Amino acid sequence: MSEVLCLYYSRSGNTQKTMEEIASALGAELVSLDDGRDRSGWRGWLRAGMDAMRRETRALEPYETERPLEDYDLVLLGTPVWAGRCAAPIRSFLKENGRRLERVGYALTRAGEGKCEEVYTQMDRYTAAKHALCVSLRPGSVGYVFWRDQFVQEALRYLERG
Ligand SMILES: Cc1cc2nc3c(=O)[nH]c(=O)nc-3n(C[C@H](O)[C@H](O)[C@H](O)COP(=O)(O)O)c2cc1C
Repeated sequence: MSEVLCLYYSRSGNTQKTMEEIASALGAELVSLDDGRDRSGWRGWLRAGMDAMRRETRALEPYETERPLEDYDLVLLGTPVWAGRCAAPIRSFLKENGRRLERVGYALTRAGEGKCEEVYTQMDRYTAAKHALCVSLRPGSVGYVFWRDQFVQEALRYLERG
């Protein structure tokens, strides 16, 4: 069984691809989260933005992890940036389970130049301990592979330290 759990939400596939790559490099378990809200098309885009700005959340659809969250050496959360915030389904997850996360890292995907690092602090408000590692990636950018791989190396060092 894997020591690392990668959880993510992805509306249009970027975060899914990133988390698949990270999970594969770490031999991690990969689980997708969804709150069942239709966010397709331009209406869905608007809905996503409104949910993020209002910090509105809905219950997540059922999902399964191999172990209880506390039993992983590291839990990595992948989220797109929405209006300078984490995606609503990731906020749902954090509201419900954040207090169970002591060894946590964040992977953001974004479209803009800015790294949106304020999102890390926002997510930390829900967790039992502050994040141990983080990365903000812009899919398709020149630095994407470099920063992704650096994050993977950081995670491996973190796991080695125990
Ligand atoms: C409603 C909405 C708001 C967004 N806000 C931001 C933002 O504030 N900053 C940014 O860099 N990208 C923003 N984006 C772009 C996404 O974060 C980016 O395209 C991300 O990689 C999408 O991930 P996904 O394909 O996994 O859904 C926004 C996208 C959506 C749908």
